Amino acid sequence: MSFPDPHSYYDSAQPKARRLRLKLRVDFDAKRIAGEVVLEFGRDIAGTLDLDTKGLEIQSVQVPGLGPIPWELEEPDAIKGSRLRLEVPAGTHEVAVTYLTAPDAMALQWLDAAQTEGKVAPYLFSQCQQIHARTMVPCQDTPVVRVAYQAEVTVPEGLTAVMSAGPAGDEATGDGRHTFRFTMPQPIPSYLLALAVGRLASRDLSPRARVWAEPETVDAAAWEFAGVEDMIVKAEGLFGTYPWDRYDMLVLPPSFPYGGMENPRMTFLTPTLLAGDRSLVDVVAHELAHSWTGNLVTNASMEHFWLNEGFTVWAERKILRTLHGDDAAALGWAMGQKALEDSLARFQAEPHLTVLRLHLEGIDPDDAFSSIPYEKGARLVAALEREVGEERFHRFLRDYMDAHRFTSITTEQFCAFVDAKLPGALEAVHADAYLNEPGLPASAPQFQSAQLDTLTALAESWATGGRPTASQIAGWSTNELLVYLQKLPRQVTAADCVWLDAHFQLMGRGNHEILVEWLTLAAAADYEPAFPKISEVLLRVGRMKYLRPLYGALAATPRTRALARDLFAAASPGYHGLSRRVVASVLETYEK
Ligand code: BES
Ligand code: ZN
Repeated sequence: MSFPDPHSYYDSAQPKARRLRLKLRVDFDAKRIAGEVVLEFGRDIAGTLDLDTKGLEIQSVQVPGLGPIPWELEEPDAIKGSRLRLEVPAGTHEVAVTYLTAPDAMALQWLDAAQTEGKVAPYLFSQCQQIHARTMVPCQDTPVVRVAYQAEVTVPEGLTAVMSAGPAGDEATGDGRHTFRFTMPQPIPSYLLALAVGRLASRDLSPRARVWAEPETVDAAAWEFAGVEDMIVKAEGLFGTYPWDRYDMLVLPPSFPYGGMENPRMTFLTPTLLAGDRSLVDVVAHELAHSWTGNLVTNASMEHFWLNEGFTVWAERKILRTLHGDDAAALGWAMGQKALEDSLARFQAEPHLTVLRLHLEGIDPDDAFSSIPYEKGARLVAALEREVGEERFHRFLRDYMDAHRFTSITTEQFCAFVDAKLPGALEAVHADAYLNEPGLPASAPQFQSAQLDTLTALAESWATGGRPTASQIAGWSTNELLVYLQKLPRQVTAADCVWLDAHFQLMGRGNHEILVEWLTLAAAADYEPAFPKISEVLLRVGRMKYLRPLYGALAATPRTRALARDLFAAASPGYHGLSRRVVASVLETYEK
């Protein structure tokens, strides 16, 4: 027995599934999926087989052609869920499980029509990363195991289903439903299984890229993301040919808890990216880069999450640099530095969560989530690149991708590969300090630009009366303004807020990074005129990145603590379960 992933019951002495055949019937009234999954092993297996499940009602377990086989669903662990233990007779090469998902399955958010843009039909979406696939499908829910899949999804007529897979036809069932078929020929880890069902329309952006959204927003989405083909071409320059055939995107309703999720062939995106000025497309560059770093070469467990995210942030900034130049990339690194500092401060009492190579036995990976694997990880990658030079690092990356495509690897495997290809580089950049020590090494690369220095100096002079001039303000891009706001003192006065809003028209911003940065400052300053907007954002948007600072700022001030609680009570029925957990923990910090 050996358990390579602390968050899964998968035992590496047991066979790995190679392929899944899924039949999912989506019931919006019951908020349940009635599912059947056939796990194909591609060879004869026998003996004990353990699957991950959480909250699933198991109805039957069969070997197709043979009949029912013995199974046992164990008592649930709060993090991992329940082990489903099957006893598989000799000569078996596939097993079928029929089941029902729970209405509160963490992977699934069921939205009423009122929570959608069109307000006429319900909506369902999944979010399986980190370990929520097991609330949707019984499976070996660890990235150590990769599966191809095919699926048949039956939904009410008039709604469309999309998945992290290629479409393979659809037809009316004749009883008021419609079945959509999908196939994903390449092997993926379970956390990349994805499904969404709603009133959806699409627009082609290039021969291989398309955006999906509700009909009300699809044209805005097509405009915002029109540059995606350019990004794909730039990413191919970094990593090699795009490996997944199509790159489609789905813009979700505003309760989607993340900015983006790199589901293969169908990136999921928050609608808060629709700023109207293409200023938030760095999130698309990020999710696209995951097509290689994460989806093609995958972390073997959440203990190696930095291999996914650190590489992807580095790649995202590389893509932005080729598209928009050095200054734009430097701003990206500066925003990342701020996120890193905030996360290090949040985990001050938990230094073990600030190392890159994590040890997560008994720790919920959603609780360990922060910007640290992203930004500390990206700085380690950048340090390696600086150490060996851009060209040699580029060749290394190509080798790394080639050697590990469609596999899931550990930090130790990564280090062994670097040692073989770039001997001495890990020691030279003090990789051990990034991987195994808390905080950020003093030797970490710095990213400077003249513009960044100007913004920093101006923001630092705020307290002594320094203000940008009208012509400076007029020349700033959205991200320059964002960096400036991020560098302002956290505690400004109501009079400062008046000045800021008057000069930057912050209250009406469509760019949610700016809007939320501003509202966070305003909340901390107890600036009354901002409160209606704060309520509006908290009642509409479920992206955790925005909920955390806004609720944090409200709860930190005694006068607005009750408001934070009231807003949460009003908003939480519309939040995703993950968002609800994050807000509850933020508020708890200030309860006494
Ligand atoms: N894979 C992540 C989202 C994620 C992380 C989901 C952990 C569940 C658990 C995605 O690629 C991501 O990093 N999204 C960021 C985008 C940003 C870094 C550009 C986000 O949602 O903010
Ligand atoms: Zn990511």
